[in-house]
Amino acid sequence: MSRAPILEIPGDDPEQKTSPDNLTPTETEIMETVAEAWKHVIRDGFSTPIFPDIQTNAEDKNGKTVDNVNGKTTLQSCSNGGGPAICGDSEVVPNNSNGGGGKTTSVLKPSPSVGISLENLLEVPIGGSGKNGGAENGSGTSMMDEAWEQLSRSYVYFKGQRVGTLAAIDTGGETLNYNQVFVRDFVPCGLACLMKTDADVDIVKNFLLKTLHLQGWEKRIDNFTLGEGVMPASFKVIQDPNRQKEVLQADFGGTAIGRVAPVDSGFWWIILLRSYTKCTHDYSLSELPEVQRGMKLILNLCLSDGFDTFPTLLCADGCSMIDRRMGIYGYPIEIQALFFFALRCARQLLKPEHDGKELIERIDKRITALSYHIQNYYWLDFTQLNNIYRYKTEEYSHTAVNKFNVIPESIPDWVFEFMPLRGGYFIGNVSPARMDFRWFLVGNCIAILSCLATPAQATAVMDLIEERWADLIGEMPLKIAYPALEGHQWRIVTGCDPKNTRWSYHNGGSWPVLLWLLTAASIKTGRPQIAKRAIELVEQRLAKDGWPEYYDGITGRYIGKQARKYQTWSITGYLVAKLMIENPSNLLIISLEEDKKIAKPKLTRSASWTC
Ligand code: GLC
Repeated sequence: MSRAPILEIPGDDPEQKTSPDNLTPTETEIMETVAEAWKHVIRDGFSTPIFPDIQTNAEDKNGKTVDNVNGKTTLQSCSNGGGPAICGDSEVVPNNSNGGGGKTTSVLKPSPSVGISLENLLEVPIGGSGKNGGAENGSGTSMMDEAWEQLSRSYVYFKGQRVGTLAAIDTGGETLNYNQVFVRDFVPCGLACLMKTDADVDIVKNFLLKTLHLQGWEKRIDNFTLGEGVMPASFKVIQDPNRQKEVLQADFGGTAIGRVAPVDSGFWWIILLRSYTKCTHDYSLSELPEVQRGMKLILNLCLSDGFDTFPTLLCADGCSMIDRRMGIYGYPIEIQALFFFALRCARQLLKPEHDGKELIERIDKRITALSYHIQNYYWLDFTQLNNIYRYKTEEYSHTAVNKFNVIPESIPDWVFEFMPLRGGYFIGNVSPARMDFRWFLVGNCIAILSCLATPAQATAVMDLIEERWADLIGEMPLKIAYPALEGHQWRIVTGCDPKNTRWSYHNGGSWPVLLWLLTAASIKTGRPQIAKRAIELVEQRLAKDGWPEYYDGITGRYIGKQARKYQTWSITGYLVAKLMIENPSNLLIISLEEDKKIAKPKLTRSASWTC
């Protein structure tokens, strides 16, 4: 009889906090035996040879099998035959209530450090190079010094006040729109200003107020008026020759490459407002009636009733950091994670007065529904991949297990190779009959920072990064998405975009700015060594290469084909990473703690097949 897997993801039960590194020899032995047994099942028992190249593998010091050819940890499997079997972080135990051939329960275990109170970090600065430390940049001065210097060169002034930072100051290339202040690009700049020893809070406050002012403009593209709450993607300060004064010019998507409004801008704005408040304890800004109104307008855009059957937010392609066509339309993880993060930040900042109470209730309901949906349907690890591989289709009733009618044949081959036994991640997109299995870094790290990921899932994401270091970090951190779209897929999904060719730019390119997100997630999960390894890689090249926007190539070795130099968020991504690794209490400025009140879903799956 076939087994019906149940996936249980516990909260932060201290009893269950074990990492594979802590496994006793006996547990490692069990892993080995069970994995060996399952290799045969996989090789001989499944009709399609999905794991054709599982061979005799060497074992590394942690008891993981290592693929002899490419050094990757290959897929292992675990069975529940005869007692508990441990597979990496997944403990598979027989469900007694269902007899010997009954259900399989897979329990993901968080690492010991996940779930620790962030406040514990306050007293534990890691020794390091201090504000002016860091590697050398090739000209003798420290990289940190140069980064601060470059940051100050990027400031944009309006009526004598600093209101933001230029996207890049590359004198060599075409300016395009890099002479503007991008909302998303300013976030690491603002964080660097908040985290530095003598916090520079004014620029952050000015930026928040100036963009709020722009939100109030009437926004029209051709004859169509955009929603009131939409925040600009970017703005610039220009000199009006007629009026002989400085004026602001904002883009709400109307002049962007895809003519799509930036859904992420409003979320980042709320997140930065909370960071400002957390850092300064100045509640007077968030309590201003116009700031409260700005937040409500953003939230109203996302919480209004419609035809939705999912709590996730329906989006057009190119509405976030990846602002060109890349097949991320629908329900992309980056937007869903930012949505969740912004909801939780707004929850802390909104005042219940007037209509605030009703809005807070809607936020609470959405937070619960969204976390259930993402934790259940976006999560992919070895066990879940195997479940999907065995999905039954055409299940109409509410008892359906394969809720979106995903056809197993649509699982791309690369996932079977990529998925390690230890680790997991939130996939890129879930919608009817469609799972986009690609890995996206921003969505996964934001899920960790906002506690959208359970502690066990957060640990598993960091495990995956370690297991797939060569693919996701390579020679220059960090891949924005993995893998790249190539050939026919690239043609139909990107529309033959010459900027997004394989392993370039948004299509598998490596973006130094993402270092701050990885660092924050690493510290939050108690794995700062992951960030340190990545920072070391960045320090070898970033400053010497002139702080490029992105790198190309399967390992990220080459400076991006069309990358700007002196890209401000590459500079501040490095600064924020250093400021956090040297003083982990800085993490509190951007990270949220678990909210015990959010109903914890028990991830339960019943049989998707019968025999
Ligand atoms: C590119 C990136 C976008 C970024 C902008 C400014 O358009 O795709 O994410 O905000 O450049 O740096």
